[in-house]
Amino acid sequence: MRLEGKVAFITGAAAAVPGELMGFGGAAAWAFAREGASVMLADINDADGERGAAALRSAGFDAYYHHLDVTSAANWTDAIEATVSAFGALHVLVNNAGTASAANLEETTEEIWDQQMDVHAKGVFLGTRAAIEPMRVAGGGSIVNVSSIFGIIGSPSSTAYHAAKGAIRTFTKAAAVQYAPEGIRVNSLHPGFAQTPLTSEMFDKPQVKEWVLQRIPMGRVGTADDLVPGIVFLAADESRYMTGAELVIDGGVTAQ
Ligand code: NAI
Repeated sequence: MRLEGKVAFITGAAAAVPGELMGFGGAAAWAFAREGASVMLADINDADGERGAAALRSAGFDAYYHHLDVTSAANWTDAIEATVSAFGALHVLVNNAGTASAANLEETTEEIWDQQMDVHAKGVFLGTRAAIEPMRVAGGGSIVNVSSIFGIIGSPSSTAYHAAKGAIRTFTKAAAVQYAPEGIRVNSLHPGFAQTPLTSEMFDKPQVKEWVLQRIPMGRVGTADDLVPGIVFLAADESRYMTGAELVIDGGVTAQ
């Protein structure tokens, strides 16, 4: 049990219902529970989030769902308080919530720009800030910020998404350096192209699928199950000497 006794909070975790397509957050919630953690799932999609948490409880795990819009500081205060009050502490935060925008530079309106920066850059900042004090009280913790390979490299589209995911990458390093002396580790995860509720409609379009497949040396689109072992590793004490690091899981896309 690699997360025995840990309390974990995962954003963007609504897609967690067995038998349905899971996202990284939903699949991570199941893996965390199987590794011994108590898990708070958080999202704006309350209907699916409640179904996911209920399924985890039916399987005998310690899990609840809490509504959270990651762009709201007040929501963060409520959700972290609810977690500490339900489970007694906070040891792991996975900042995973996200939305997609494929707009290229000239198609990107100020509204798209602000929305992407709010959900990704501001959301990760607010979550990390809210988690510091309870992790300090717990004597340390691990924060996993889900960026993207699009936070490292460019592409002809998704301009605001690239910028927002890139902000997560360097924010992670700044927070890692600041909180290393207190035993709070902060790392970023950079998934490649993966079939999840966020992307399945996009990747089902033949021309998008072809563009994506051409860029993956391993020749297939990933799944949440390909990413989850990396999230568990960064959350668990086995990665205890890692902070401010980037874990890329992308089938070789960024090796080229
Ligand atoms: P997903 O759809 O399972 O996860 C995204 C979740 O974020 C959804 O449940 C959505 O309701 C939630 N969300 C959106 N806005 C929110 C807000 N303001 N507050 C709280 N929750 C909010 O899809 P997936 O793909 O697992 O995405 C997880 C993360 O992985 C995202 O940050 C995404 O950008 C990132 N990612 C995904 C890749 C992919 O190919 N699927 C590749 C690289 C990164």
